[in-house]
Amino acid sequence: MEEHRQLVRLDPEYRWRREQIEKDVQQWIAAFGEEGSRTGIIRIPVVVHVIWHTAAENISDAQIHSQIDVLNADFRRLNADAGSVPSAFAGVAADARVEFALAVRGPGCAVTTGITRTETSVTGWTRNQTGMLSAAGRGHDPWDVTRYLNVWVCNYTDGLLGKGSFPGMPNQGVRCHYRAFGSTGTLSAPYDLGRTMVHEVGHYLNLNHIWGDDGSLCTGTDNVADTPNQADEHYGTPTFPQVSCSNGPDGDMFMNYMDYTDDAGMFMFTAGQSERMDATLHTARTGLLASDGLVPSSGAVNDLWAKDTSDDDGAEPNPSGQPMWVSDDIWVRNDNNGIANQDHQNPEHGSGTTSVYVRVRNRGCSGTSSGTVRLYWAKASPGLAWP
Ligand code: ARG
Ligand code: ZN
Ligand code: CA
Repeated sequence: MEEHRQLVRLDPEYRWRREQIEKDVQQWIAAFGEEGSRTGIIRIPVVVHVIWHTAAENISDAQIHSQIDVLNADFRRLNADAGSVPSAFAGVAADARVEFALAVRGPGCAVTTGITRTETSVTGWTRNQTGMLSAAGRGHDPWDVTRYLNVWVCNYTDGLLGKGSFPGMPNQGVRCHYRAFGSTGTLSAPYDLGRTMVHEVGHYLNLNHIWGDDGSLCTGTDNVADTPNQADEHYGTPTFPQVSCSNGPDGDMFMNYMDYTDDAGMFMFTAGQSERMDATLHTARTGLLASDGLVPSSGAVNDLWAKDTSDDDGAEPNPSGQPMWVSDDIWVRNDNNGIANQDHQNPEHGSGTTSVYVRVRNRGCSGTSSGTVRLYWAKASPGLAWP
């Protein structure tokens, strides 16, 4: 927030960029918000850059995987403590339908674990330092920031747990203290459940702090309608209710991931936050939707693939036992707007044009020849015949 505020003050181009992004988000919500929550799931490719000086800072693969698991639990509302949301707020608690996975395809189409490890001579960092973000600064360069969520794990020595970039900010990605990363391994209570990353990825997907960042005033907003107006942030594990800004009887939603409580004290996103993240993914962060970071390379030059089921990784023959009609790569829209909203809609005949969208990716590397993609369709009916 500090950095954002300073940029707003000093950099007119940044200010303009943030205004455009907010306009796009509000426009998307106005156009698609009423459709309700997305039925499909968006998977974000992640690369974790471990920047270490001591052996302890070179955290294990298991610790990294535990962080991915926490993100997947919390963004899908599958967290074990989801039931702790007070009943007053249970109605707005939401599954954001976003998942995360370590990239399998890196720059230049290289096979990857989605983890890079860099030994550095730097013993620690403070909040405004950016050295970890580049090889020149004794860290690691980002992978294409439009196509991967870049995460740097390093040793902060000034009390900072983590830092996430809003869309439009310089230095895109998320940074996290190695002792606040994941839920198993080298960790420091009470920030040992992986929630720092959930909070920072919330910022990365354009969420604001729930109290509106106006100090203890009641005039700020997080630009989300279903979070109560709240004066200030909370720490520790508050007890319900905490009333401020005349928001009684239920009070502040201090158990939201975008507050500042202990990891054990935060366990929900709202439907409004989830919609804002969805709008951001379809506007400022569309590069993630188009990314091939999760497409395993088949080694061929051209090897076209549409994903049939969520577990279809392109292996042939497809070993999936899931039904084939839930393809992530085929969606129906009642209007010609399927790029702006890549989610299924129930087709309504007679209301206009029904459009069917198909995404085909290349499992191969560096296509050196061009060709024709043919898509064949059969209209299903009791008399269906092929071809
Ligand atoms: N950027 C915030 C900080 O460093 C993150 C707070 C995250 N809170 C948590 N319980 N993990 O202070
Ligand atoms: Zn924050
Ligand atoms: Ca406030």
